[in-house]
Amino acid sequence: MSTQITSTDRSVKVVNHPLAQSTLTRLRDYQTPTVEFRQKALLLGRYLVYEAALDLNYRQTGVETPIGPAKGVALSDYIILAPVLRAGLIISEAAQELLPTARIYHIGLRRDEQTLQAITYYSKLPDVLPSESSVFILDPMLATGGSAVAAIKLFAGLKVKTIRLVSFVASPEGIATVQKAFPEVKIITASIDEQLNEHGYIVPGLGDAGDRIFGT
Ligand code: PRP
Ligand code: URA
Repeated sequence: MSTQITSTDRSVKVVNHPLAQSTLTRLRDYQTPTVEFRQKALLLGRYLVYEAALDLNYRQTGVETPIGPAKGVALSDYIILAPVLRAGLIISEAAQELLPTARIYHIGLRRDEQTLQAITYYSKLPDVLPSESSVFILDPMLATGGSAVAAIKLFAGLKVKTIRLVSFVASPEGIATVQKAFPEVKIITASIDEQLNEHGYIVPGLGDAGDRIFGT
């Protein structure tokens, strides 16, 4: 029986492609070893960033093929990747292959496991960013949404053009929290899961993403 996946509205895009969904299934399996987990996380990162890049801006350009002139396009946005440490690093690795000219600003956030509040321990953003900046916030898990909102806030204050949030798995609670604070942010995810448990973990989720990626 296939799982029914729905997205709540147009600001959430669930990437329902069979390749993405079968890759996510390997990530969910608690028996998937670290080496395979990392490989599959990179792969799912590629699929999601590819989808997230769908509405990037481009300009018309021309090139000469060996046979003659051809019309083409070139990306025109100033692209920023913002991996949330630690787990977002794996999506950043995937994104850099697809968007090699992107600037990368790392965001250090950790959840206080008692209060579930996000604590910022690293961010080194400039005072201004180009107005055509398109920011991709990269974090595999959107749980309570506290980390996502903290990361988005850092960029929203800099008046960038667009902010996207790329996550492997999102909870309904996390989506609602982000939408309430930043309705303009588009969320690209492979799944909207059932709920959070009493420890703030996504159910069924895939466990602790950072620990599973880094084998800790
Ligand atoms: C995880 C995950 C997100 C955050 C999501 O990070 O990678 O950043 O939790 O939870 P939230 O939506 O409730 O804020 P964690 O704090 O475990 O840090 P780590 O990646 O360094 O292990
Ligand atoms: N962080 C994770 O890594 N997994 C969850 O399910 C929730 C927060």
